[in-house]
Amino acid sequence: MSGDDFVPKILCFLCQWCGYNAADQAGSGRISYPASLRAIEVTCSGMVHPDWVIEPLLKGIDGVMIVGCHLGQCHYGSGNESAMGRKELIEETLSDLGIDKERFFMGWVSAAEAARFAQMVSEMTERLKGLGPNPAFGRPRVSLKAPSVKTENELVHHVNGKNYYWDGRIYREDERAQKAISRYLDMGFEAKLVPKGKRILIYTRRDINKEGDNGRS
Ligand code: FES
Repeated sequence: MSGDDFVPKILCFLCQWCGYNAADQAGSGRISYPASLRAIEVTCSGMVHPDWVIEPLLKGIDGVMIVGCHLGQCHYGSGNESAMGRKELIEETLSDLGIDKERFFMGWVSAAEAARFAQMVSEMTERLKGLGPNPAFGRPRVSLKAPSVKTENELVHHVNGKNYYWDGRIYREDERAQKAISRYLDMGFEAKLVPKGKRILIYTRRDINKEGDNGRS
């Protein structure tokens, strides 16, 4: 499916103050935008966890948008700046997982900018039409889960030049990790760490076609 036949499905997180009101005004003002949008109202763009972007894309949705108040205008101070701070991490994670980062968009509107919102959706729709359907639908199944920890300090990951090890409670950065990292990577895992508060969530992907021992994870 491609070209005119393809209507991309887009998940859009809208902050309740500006994003949602701009979308609402676009609707009541009859400013048209593609109807393939699935809108979810959130308190603030800053509360959108990276998982909420990554998981739907892994499951085959064509695109995900986050739309909040203009920078400096967040009703909770700096929620949109927090969201901005996660943008690069989300894009890197998507790339690591083999998903085109262009399937993700983050943008800002005021409550009165219905036309701007409609334009964002239209542009995202055109971009996704250019990319075609999310190939996650047609891929071999991959596992995306936290691997089991067999022994303390065994679960180690290398991210942005730093190694982390599991101390039994949280992931810590430590030179002891240097010794264990090669062993763990030799097990065939690819991993991405996603900070969440004081913890770091681990996502791993292992192509089931190349694993020789289904019982190991
Ligand atoms: Fe709109 Fe924070 S309230 S981005």
